[in-house]
Amino acid sequence: MKQHIVVLTGAGISAESGIKTFRDADGLWEGHDVMEVATPQGFKKNPELVLDFYNQRRRQLQTVQPNQAHLDLAALEKTYNVTIVTQNVDDLHERAGSNAIVHLHGELRKVRSTGNPEAITPWDQDLHLGDLCKQGYQLRPHIVWFGEDVPKIEAAIEICQTADILVIIGTSMQVYPAAGLLDYTPKNTPIYYIDPKPASVANKAVTLIQKSATEGTKVLLDLLKDKI
Ligand code: APR
Repeated sequence: MKQHIVVLTGAGISAESGIKTFRDADGLWEGHDVMEVATPQGFKKNPELVLDFYNQRRRQLQTVQPNQAHLDLAALEKTYNVTIVTQNVDDLHERAGSNAIVHLHGELRKVRSTGNPEAITPWDQDLHLGDLCKQGYQLRPHIVWFGEDVPKIEAAIEICQTADILVIIGTSMQVYPAAGLLDYTPKNTPIYYIDPKPASVANKAVTLIQKSATEGTKVLLDLLKDKI
């Protein structure tokens, strides 16, 4: 049976595709205070600003491509049973060809009803005030904002509990519950953490690969060759 590799990805894996990370530029995200554009309070205060912000992100997503790190993770499925648990709302893992992806923080290319969180629908155009679900509620981006529940976290914990190897790529490990996932892997599961500026992680099992996602993933593949 193939070994199970769980890969936890963050904004850093998409940086080389041209999508900015959240915390690399003075706490601003594409020029915005995160609290204004990524909280339920921000949406209540200025829904048009928030919708416009995600419209821009959705449009930008159409202009970028998966990079070699996304592609290498997809190719890893030839040898391993791979599950990607991503904090990213882009679809670059999907476009690279990965098959098992859990989006912890939602997806840019979907929207959902403000009246029914289960009413989620694909959405590739701009979203405006007045765009309603079938029950007549305003639609909102299908994004987990700060302060909101992370509905997929239970599934992600179960996935981590069956990991033979955990790989972490391009995340500052600042945002919980995602950052706590490494505590759920079985004891002695090797953990590889690829990031040019990794956070300090108090876990003995962690091998640091202090490189960009594309460079670091190359190193990882070499290290894994010795394990098969
Ligand atoms: N390759 C790999 N990692 C990189 C690269 C790169 N080319 N460039 C930057 N990084 C790293 C940074 O060093 C940092 O550790 O990516 C990480 C990005 O961290 P954050 O911006 O905090 O992004 P992330 O950890 O994904 O944020 C988590 O916070 O704002 C919320 O919901 C949002 O999902 C997001 C969550």
